[in-house]
Amino acid sequence: MSQPLGAEDCLQEPRMDYNTTDDAVTRRIRAMNERVNLLKENDLYFYNQAVEEVRGGARVLVHGREMGMYASYGYLGLLGHPRINAAARKALDKFGTGTNGVRTLAGTLPIHNELEETIANFKHTEAAITYTSGYATNLTVISTLVGRGDYVLSDKLNHASIVDGCLMSGAEFRRFKHNDMQHLETMLKGVPEGVSKMVVADSVFSMDGDIIDLPKVVELCKKYNAWLMMDEAHSVGVLGKTGTGIEEHFGLGNVIDIKMGTLSKTIPSVGGYVAADKEIIAYLRHASRAYIFSAALPPAQAAAANEAFKVILDEPWRIEQLNANTKQFIGGLKSAGFDTLLTETAIVPVICGTDEAAFAMTREGQHKDVFILPVVSPAVPEGLARLRATVTAAHEHDEIERAMNVIIAAGRKLGIIK
Ligand SMILES: Cc1ncc(COP(=O)(O)O)c(C=O)c1O
Repeated sequence: MSQPLGAEDCLQEPRMDYNTTDDAVTRRIRAMNERVNLLKENDLYFYNQAVEEVRGGARVLVHGREMGMYASYGYLGLLGHPRINAAARKALDKFGTGTNGVRTLAGTLPIHNELEETIANFKHTEAAITYTSGYATNLTVISTLVGRGDYVLSDKLNHASIVDGCLMSGAEFRRFKHNDMQHLETMLKGVPEGVSKMVVADSVFSMDGDIIDLPKVVELCKKYNAWLMMDEAHSVGVLGKTGTGIEEHFGLGNVIDIKMGTLSKTIPSVGGYVAADKEIIAYLRHASRAYIFSAALPPAQAAAANEAFKVILDEPWRIEQLNANTKQFIGGLKSAGFDTLLTETAIVPVICGTDEAAFAMTREGQHKDVFILPVVSPAVPEGLARLRATVTAAHEHDEIERAMNVIIAAGRKLGIIK
């Protein structure tokens, strides 16, 4: 048997031994497939694995093996919560599995209105609107609010859905250095007089886990008369004493114009939302294309989301547990010598360096029943490939210790830490 390839061999430029007359699309497809196949052949590919069973929020069954889950967005461990499941079942029994309509026409059910009211109350706004994914929400909301002739200023590390929304909008798209308020101010100053502008950012950055300097962003938006949109995908249920998000974290009250979030992370459902003043929501309801031209959220998913917001407020111990687990996880990995960047939240980047190192770390973890996954370039800058590990309120102290021991042993074996 030939010697298995190392991770580095699998990441070389794919062999371009196919027909030189192939067109660019064919070459692109083949190059990606070659890279994926090479990784698979060498046991370095762990994406797209089926989770066969979810056991108690923190453990999963994969390929028949029980593993600790350290790649989930379910920060408060709400997946499978009896109240949430019961609400979903009730809606399923009453309305069936879909809506057969867009919201504007035949697709609106009482549960959609109820969910939007719940979100508005949770986010302390006058109103809210929901969409069928967080990705679609950013795309449609940004491109409906700003357009040709306007400016949109976006943090360099913003999520892909924000970037795509900005590009789609046709507005002048400028990116400020990550969490760099001086640079943001320079950009705001550079917007021509009288031109509309919007600042948009993740509240907790999805790859690095750090938190935007909201007080300064708010100050600058006021000073330069800019709209402010924040993506709270990773801050709801994570930041603030009661888990309502970034404004509560900074004790700022209602300071964000457009509060975007997802129903697929802490909220164990699917979909996205915006909470804002009622005029903004009414405008989006009649102008945003993902609302008008795409089918409504299925009733069971809407009901699950609706109940989950209530559970967050009723069970504040989950946020305390998440904070304790986050502290334990970041503290343990840092003191072992890992670079975890500036994370303060449940998203913990474990920097490995090269893409190869991140793939190899993943293999070590997965072989020892720790479900971790790598994020490599171009999703993150070259040289900063990482495990994007997450911890949740469902993990127990000893489980986290065990997972950390596996990651630390792997880091030492691969020379990432001493
Ligand atoms: C910051 C951020 N915004 C938006 C999204 C998209 O949300 P969804 O997965 O619900 O479509 C994600 C998903 O990873 C995200 O991390």
